[in-house]
Amino acid sequence: MRMRNKYRKPTTLRCNAGSRCSLLAWSLVGFFLILQLYTFIHDTDVHNEENQMRISHRLQLHELEEVEEENIQSPTPRGRRSPRAAKRRPRKVHTSLIDEFLDESSQLRRIFFPDETMAIDPVKDTGNESSYYFPGRIWLDTDGNPIQAHGGGILYDEKTETYYWYGEFKDGPTYHAHKKGAARVDVIGVGCYSSKDLWTWKNEGIVLAAEEKNETHDLHKLNVLERPKVIYNDKTGQYVMWMHIDDTNYTKASVGVAIGNSPTGPFKYLYSKRPHGFDSRDMTIFKDDDGVAYLVYSSEDNSELHIGPLNEDYLDVTNIMRRILVGQHREAPALFKHQGTYYMITSGCTGWAPNEALAHATESIMGQWETIGNPCIGGNKIFRLTTFFSQGTCVLPLPGFPGSFIFVADRWNPADLRDSRYVWLPLTVGGPVDEPLEYSFGFPMWSRISIYWHKKWRLPHRWKGKQ
Ligand SMILES: *[C@@H]1O[C@H](CO)[C@@H](O)[C@H](O)[C@H]1NC(C)=O
Ligand SMILES: *[C@@H]1O[C@H](CO)[C@@H](O)[C@H](O)[C@H]1NC(C)=O
Ligand SMILES: *[C@@H]1O[C@H](CO)[C@@H](O)[C@H](O)[C@H]1NC(C)=O
Repeated sequence: MRMRNKYRKPTTLRCNAGSRCSLLAWSLVGFFLILQLYTFIHDTDVHNEENQMRISHRLQLHELEEVEEENIQSPTPRGRRSPRAAKRRPRKVHTSLIDEFLDESSQLRRIFFPDETMAIDPVKDTGNESSYYFPGRIWLDTDGNPIQAHGGGILYDEKTETYYWYGEFKDGPTYHAHKKGAARVDVIGVGCYSSKDLWTWKNEGIVLAAEEKNETHDLHKLNVLERPKVIYNDKTGQYVMWMHIDDTNYTKASVGVAIGNSPTGPFKYLYSKRPHGFDSRDMTIFKDDDGVAYLVYSSEDNSELHIGPLNEDYLDVTNIMRRILVGQHREAPALFKHQGTYYMITSGCTGWAPNEALAHATESIMGQWETIGNPCIGGNKIFRLTTFFSQGTCVLPLPGFPGSFIFVADRWNPADLRDSRYVWLPLTVGGPVDEPLEYSFGFPMWSRISIYWHKKWRLPHRWKGKQ
């Protein structure tokens, strides 16, 4: 049974007649104890079977929740950093490790970006490495090509009982459009991969392609298409894709919408707009249990997030919108839900460079979101301050394992974006949070979000797709 920390809130019982007051207080305590006991027995009855399942799951999940340390040392600064520069900026170990990570010529590079000899090849790796995720390694599809699904989203399609992974297909040269421009790859389109086991992925092709010639088209290759996400609309029977649409200089700041009759498309591009009249960059969509879908996007120059429900056909926003995490400068939102509570993981805004993830929670999706701290566990301090050198893109529930999810993130490689890697790690919901509430007193009643670092891990043994 979950002890709701709400009861710990400091309360002041003001009384004049002392003894009568303590009688009242003790009666109250007694009443609450009986209530707790009743709830406990009731819960035990109802959830007995569920609990046993949960215990066996716990044992299997134990491995995922092991804390694994990393011991990467930053090398001594090399010649390229002049003594004067070193004096100007007092050397911090973690700053220099991020520098190494971003430096194409660093000796540490192969730790973060292992070469193709270390690639995960689900077709070949049928031995004892089978089904293992190796965060950061090249991950091959069933044709033997590196998976191209960056900034992606994963849809479980009930009809075909298959997972579909959509993402930016970035298999082109990285360049800068102008001196101050961010590293970019021309738009090729949205890649789609299918899988039954979340490990072996078949390339289903480009399901929404860039526009080669029409320069005024949103999907023209010189524009920007990021973070595509697909959900299924039960009412219209259509697959709806939302994405970030922008121009080279990120001034258009819009969302784009496309629809398809099948999860593998082809998707038909409909239009782009500034949702609710606001600039919109990193975004995601989330479909709730009641079928209502929401758009969440970074706005007001990435200083805050906006959230609002989509209309019934999921092809547009409604005029309901709430500003959340105002002034917190968060991007890369990834939403999920557990036992009626909504959670979100976000990153800071530092371009392609990695930064610290934060978890947020709320009981009501359109209500007040609270920040509950950095979810990363293990690795080392710098791993935890950089989201394990990655940036989240979505969180996938693990069917049959309530409270267990996969955190799906990108390890961006700004020098060669097509060679950006994937970091998939187990995420669990449970235990007390480590930060007090910002907007009301005490600690929140929801649970901690934990993302565990692993060099190598696999899904619990009994998990064999959702069949
Ligand atoms: C897995 O296979 C590799 C290569 O064949 C071998 O070196 C390693 O010891 C094996 N590990 C286990 C746990 O069996
Ligand atoms: C180019 O794209 C724009 C915007 O989608 C559209 O209005 C126009 O008809 C297109 N032009 C051609 C020649 O297809
Ligand atoms: C983007 O910004 C650069 C530098 O400010 C400018 O030279 C260029 O024309 C802009 N491109 C577009 C498409 O607006």
